[in-house]
This record gives sequence, structure tokens and C-alpha cells, in this order.
Amino acid sequence: MQDTQPNTTYLKDYRVPDYLVDNTDLHFELEAKVTQVRTRLKIRRNPKAGDGLPPLFLDGVDLQLFSVTLDGIALSSTDYQELPQGLSIPVEKPEFVLEIHNSINPEENTSLEGLYLSNKMYCTQCEAEGFRKITFYPDRPDVMSKFTTTIVASKDHPVLLSNGNEIGRGHCEDGRQFVTWEDPFPKPAYLFALVAGNLEHVEDVFTTARGRKVKLQIFTEAKNIGKCDHAMRSLKNAMRWDEEVYGREYDLDIFMVVAVDHFNMGAMENKGLNIFNSACVLASPETATDSAFQRIESIVGHEYFHNWSGNRVTCRDWFQLSLKEGFTVFRDAEFSADLNSRAVKRIEDVTLLRTNQFAEDAGPMAHPIRPDSYMEISNFYTLTVYEKGAEVVRMIHTLLGADGFRKGSDLYFERHDGCAVTCEDFVRAMEDANQVDLTQFRRWYSQAGTPVLDVTDQFDESTGVYRLIVRQSCPVTPEQKDKLPFHIPFAMGLLDSTGSGIALDKAGSTQLVLEITESEQVFEFNGLRERPLPSLLRGFSAPVKVRYDYSLEQLLFLMSHDSDTFNRWDASQRFAFKAMNQLQSAYQEGLSLELSPELIVAYRNILLNKELDPALVAEIMLLPSEHSIAEESVSIDAEAIVAARTFARKSLSCALIDELKERYAELDIERPYSPNAKDIAERRLKNICLEYLCVTESADALDLAQCQFDSAGNMTDSAAALSALINYGNDQYAEQAIHQFYDRWKEDTQVTELWLAQQACSAKRGTLNNIKALMQHPAFELKNPNKVRAVIGGFANRNFQQFHKNDGSGFEFVADQVIALDKLNPQVASRVVIPITRWKKYSGELAGKMKAALLRVSNSGELSKDVYEVVSKSLV
Ligand code: PHE
Ligand code: ZN
Repeated sequence: MQDTQPNTTYLKDYRVPDYLVDNTDLHFELEAKVTQVRTRLKIRRNPKAGDGLPPLFLDGVDLQLFSVTLDGIALSSTDYQELPQGLSIPVEKPEFVLEIHNSINPEENTSLEGLYLSNKMYCTQCEAEGFRKITFYPDRPDVMSKFTTTIVASKDHPVLLSNGNEIGRGHCEDGRQFVTWEDPFPKPAYLFALVAGNLEHVEDVFTTARGRKVKLQIFTEAKNIGKCDHAMRSLKNAMRWDEEVYGREYDLDIFMVVAVDHFNMGAMENKGLNIFNSACVLASPETATDSAFQRIESIVGHEYFHNWSGNRVTCRDWFQLSLKEGFTVFRDAEFSADLNSRAVKRIEDVTLLRTNQFAEDAGPMAHPIRPDSYMEISNFYTLTVYEKGAEVVRMIHTLLGADGFRKGSDLYFERHDGCAVTCEDFVRAMEDANQVDLTQFRRWYSQAGTPVLDVTDQFDESTGVYRLIVRQSCPVTPEQKDKLPFHIPFAMGLLDSTGSGIALDKAGSTQLVLEITESEQVFEFNGLRERPLPSLLRGFSAPVKVRYDYSLEQLLFLMSHDSDTFNRWDASQRFAFKAMNQLQSAYQEGLSLELSPELIVAYRNILLNKELDPALVAEIMLLPSEHSIAEESVSIDAEAIVAARTFARKSLSCALIDELKERYAELDIERPYSPNAKDIAERRLKNICLEYLCVTESADALDLAQCQFDSAGNMTDSAAALSALINYGNDQYAEQAIHQFYDRWKEDTQVTELWLAQQACSAKRGTLNNIKALMQHPAFELKNPNKVRAVIGGFANRNFQQFHKNDGSGFEFVADQVIALDKLNPQVASRVVIPITRWKKYSGELAGKMKAALLRVSNSGELSKDVYEVVSKSLV
């Protein structure tokens, strides 16, 4: 906790480390309240750091120090300085061995950073700056060292794991046991990991392209051992994919994955020993939904891919976080696209970016994908660094083409293997391998905010010349007023009146990637016989907003004719946004609401179109969420958004009731569960039909839901039915379903989380009183981030209606939770506060009420660095 205002760290202040650590030997004696840590460090002066012998500084937080020894000689406490943030030790030689003995308290560690206990299992989380909560160390990613680790523990913890290969094990005289691990690859401390527990595992083997056999193990508590198959399959797919697409082979003889219930994030790529949030690795058809299966595949891939993009080549400092995260998200997205439906994956990712990252880019914490400064680095594990960072890498891929990009990545890995580098090094490798100049492109790394492209066009009938006029601009963001033009790859095509693509160059291509580099640019196309219809930003080729004044007819035309699947969906979104805006205005003016009849006709056609991929039909049927409508609003009128969307869904469901029934029945086929793209798509569309049917609240529809609830053979169908009953059933039926479901699944942590989330997200059931009651339920635990995300996060991020209650009670509730959580887990608290930081975007009284709640957090006494940074920046 902070007693003074936290310091800001600046990228411009980066200096190379004074000292390097060649070897790190760790020795742990695990005990819940007092764990002994003995560290032996082989240290030398960094030749790149200049002359002289400055004092050695070691980071350390919440540690009990017992002794320090330098080259075998014990130092007395006057020989060094113990500061709040670590140890400063005067040094007389350029090379020496330092030994430290300290202790820590894993049981009391509720921050889930450093070494902590989850249920009865010990585990660590060191990224970004958690290693300093284990022992004194130069805890920065540009200090890379070879680690050996010995773990001593009682018989209650038979499985003792760390990075690398096991090189020894045995029994101590007192009955305890030990295991020693050695990791041959030098690594920064943030990639260190230790696990100890009573765990079981499943095992498999992967043979690499060059024929090396790698042992694969997934560890979990005994009760979950049946839930590891999907992760294992995903892991093998990821290993193969990285060989085929990037030429990257795995480099150790063993790869381990461990599932833990208490985890701040999704998963962690520790060398050879990935640690996963249970929710991101455990699945079975009976207990996990399709989206959980897909999430697991992509996260297992993501962490595995980090072995090269993150571990073999790591970050010089935390400002470079997007170097590993943006690149790795791009890699996992392509992996998922190759294994499943490419178009659907893209639609999902773009939806996330547009609703949540765009909101971040327009809010008080907006930052470039490579930030210039931070108070607490944990606050910068953001959608901007991850998702926008991945879009930036994707743009390089688009500009260079797949082969050029591969040449660039090969050069990057070859040049920087074993090093800690920067985003600049990544871009330079791409340039050098392709002889291109990405000078202007680099602005994507330094400028925040979502660029806007205003597009107009002209057609001259007499000459057959068509012009696209593109103007780019970028809104002001904190600390960045004036923006320079971005280099934007703009994929586009032109459609003729039959819906065919027009040839745009001599080679006859019907799609071009235009390169936008100026604030205003005109692109000319010759020899056209009629005015074409432009299809813009195909595949979402850049993370920007495109404004072009399409008519409803034009959007309908694109929806049925565009050769780019993504843009067909995008046209439907533009269409739906227009309709919803009309409804919002009518509501604000007190007029009666009417959903545009064209939209109903269009949706009927789509719903009945059997040629279309059901996955695409499903994506179109889902109207834009309240949050994405809010993101598009200049000033958010929450009540009008809820009214407009509720009305649109009701009107659609009433108008399409027969078609919905028909498609539901047709898709409701029994078959053994498999999480393949086709089956997932069909289940998705079926369950969207069910939901729409239930929106009418007719007895028929609810019977269907009840019937599906009673007979579902997998969690996807079961959860969808539960959701329908919760949201649209009468209280008695809803209540009954909630109880039945809980009774059936109360022993299963993952299903219980889903059960909590469904209630918290429900506009009908997730009232503040019910949320408070849920927090008293035995299934809830404030110290478990997944439960907090399910209930408090579900309410604040996914229950638009109840959270935005006009009396401001939703905001006050979130403020209370932030204050309570900050004492337990600052990282989680600082995420929970986000929904009440964007008060400036709200209209009317909500803005003031939200700000008041935020001010209350700000004045609630000592805040962690994490929460202090977010709150203070949001009150500026
Ligand atoms: N590096 C992890 C990932 O994205 C995320 C993470 C960050 C996990 C910090 C824990 C703590 O793969
Ligand atoms: Zn990552």
C-alpha cells in the first residue's frame, strides 16, 4: 500500500542494468506461514553499464531478511541498506557470489503475486514484478540468468515442480522430500515458476519435426483429471502449428501445464511450466461450453507460442510488453483461425476490439501499445497492449504478405535469440528482411487513440473515373494532443450492380490494399461503366473507424453480395446500428417506437438462408450489444440504449417467430458432442433462436427451454437453456432452474462460476439485491478472482441495465467492492474499478453519480498503487 504518491516510471529513463546475474540457485523450504528461501547469485558488473562499481540494488517487497553473505563472508546489517523497495549493497569487486536467506508467508498472500497458496497447493506468479515478493533480486526482464531450484516440502505435497529438467530428488532425514530442477535456458525472473501440491497428471508425447520426443504433462487436482483431454489436444496442435507456420520447434524435453483455481489472469508462460487459471484449461463436454472449449484452445496456444515470442526472445523492459503480447495474440488468433472458422474468429476478435479496446482508447487510461510511462505496470496488461498490439502486427503481415512476414519473423528470432529486446527491434527485423521502410508505420507504437477514416466518393459518368477520398484523423488522448498521420493498410473492393467484384488493376484483382499515409488522400479508379459500391476496410485491415454514408439499400446489397465475409457481417452491423439509433432518438423524443421494416425483412432472409454458414447467421442475428452501442455514442444515454435494444429484440422475435421455431427444430439434432467449428456454429444458432423465442415470454417458447434444460447432453445447450429460463421465465420457473442447476453442479468449480455469472449478467435476476445475496452464497469467495469476475464483473461489465440504474446504486456498489478488494488483491481491484472510470462519456445525472462513486474510492484512505493510478488518472 502507498503512503505517499506513487512514482511514475518513464520509458525515456531506461538504463541498462548495473549488474548481471549469470546463475541463480534457489532453495525453498515450503511451509504455509513461513517459507524459507535461500538464494545464491553469481553476479558480475555489466560491461555495457560504464565504469566504476555502483552499489548493487536488489528489489524486494514483503520479505523477512535473515542474512546476506558476499563471497562467503556474512555481512552485518550496517554493511547494506534495507529500503522499503529492496536492498542496496555497496560492492568492491566486479564479480562476486551473493547469498541471501529470507522468509515469506504464502498463506497470507492474497495478492496472488509471488508465492501463494491456492486451495492446498503452492504456486507462483512472477510476471511482471512478482519475483521480488519471493526473494531479493534485480527483478527486471533484461537480467537473464540460468536457474536451478530445489524445493523441500512435506509428504502432503508429493508433486514438486519448477522450470526445466528434473536433475535430482530424494528424502530428507525429517521425512520431507526434495526435488531439484535445472533450466538450461537463461531467463528473466518473471518466467520463474514453482508448484507444489497433491496433484495428478495426464501425460502424452509430442515428436518434433526433427524427431525429438517431448514429454507433455498436465497437472490438476484428482477430481479434475478427466477434464484435461481438450487442453492436451490443443497443446499438440499448437506445437505442430508453430513448426509449420513459423518453423519454431520446442526446445526442452518436457513441457508441463498446471491448473490452479486462484489466478489473477488467464494463464502464464513460465519456461517449461505454464500455470493456468483452471477456467482456461479444464473442460469436458458435460461441464464446459463451446466458448470455453475455444477459449482453452486459444490460451493453450497463446502460452505455448510464448516459448519463442516472449521466452527465447523476451522484452528489454515492461514498456515493450506488446512486443511479446501483441505478437503472441496475433499468433494465437491465426492458430484458432486455421483450426476453426476464420471468418467467425475475426468477427469475434473485432467485436471485442470495437466494444472494449475502442472504449479504452477513448477513456482516461488511453495509452499507445508501447506506453511512455506507468505507475503500476500491472495496469498496462490491457486490451490496447494485447489486442490492438495484435492488430498492429497483423497490419505488418498485411503490408508484407505472408512470405515477407515469415522472412521477417525468421530474422527476428535468429537475430535476437536469447536476448531481451524492444518493439523497435521487431519492426527493424521486418524491414531488414524485406527491404522496406516502416518509419511512418512506427507511429502505431507511439500514438494512442483510435484513428477515424472519413471516406467520400465521386463518380464521373462521362469519363468513367471513380474517386475515393479518404481523410484520416485521430482524437486527442491524455497527454497527446496532436497526432501525425498513420500508415494504414486499407483493404477494399468495388462491387458492380450485379454484386460482382470489379477488376481494379491490370492483373484483374478485385481487391486491393491501399496504403493510406497522408491526412487526406484521393484514390482513382478508371474505366468504370457505372457507379460502383465500395466495400471498405475488408477483413478489418486496420484498427480504425470508417465513416462512409451508406444507405440502407447499399448495406443490404453488401450483406448479400460482398465477397468478403467479414464485410457482409459488418454491413449488417452498420444496418443494425442505424436502426437502433433511430429507436434511441424516438425514445428520447417520447415518440412511439417502430423497428425499421427493412431490418425485419433482411433478418428474415438471413435466418432462412441455408446457404449461409450458420455461424455467420448467428453473428448477424445477435444485435450489437448495449456496450457497443454505448461505445458508438457521443454521449451515453443508458436508459435509451436499453429501451432501444430491448424493443428491437422484442420486435424481431415477434415478427420472426415461425422462422425461429423452424430453424430451432431443424438444428436441434442429437449427436455426440464435439467442439468442431460446424457443430459449434449450429449449436450457437440454435441457442440464439431459442433465446429469441423466449424473448416473447410465450409459454410455448419457455417449454422448449425447459425441455432443453431437462434433456441437454452438453453444457452449451444446458447453459443456454438455463439462461433463457433465468432471463425470460416467470420467477417460479427461473428459481427452480437455478436451484436444480446448482444442486447438480455444486461440486464443480467451473460450472459454479458460470452459474454465478449467468445470474449476475441477467437484466432480470441480476438486481443489486440479488447480487448482494449471491455474494453471501457459499459458492462465492472474494479472494478468488474468478468468482469476483463472475459476480461483480458480470454485474458491472455485462449487466448494462442494472449497473446503470438511474439512482447510481450500481456505481456505489462497485465503489464499495473496489475499496474492499484493494486490501486483498490490488490487481483485481484495479480491474473492477474500470467500469466507473468513464464517467465523462455519460449524459445527464449518471455522469455525476459515477464521478461521485469514483471520488469516494479516491478518498477512502490508503490505496494500492494499482487503484491509485487508475482512479487518479480518471479524475483529472
Ligand atoms: N503473460 C501472460 C499472458 O498473456 C499474462 C499474465 C500477465 C499472467 C501477468 C499473469 C500475470 O500470456
Ligand atoms: Zn501472453
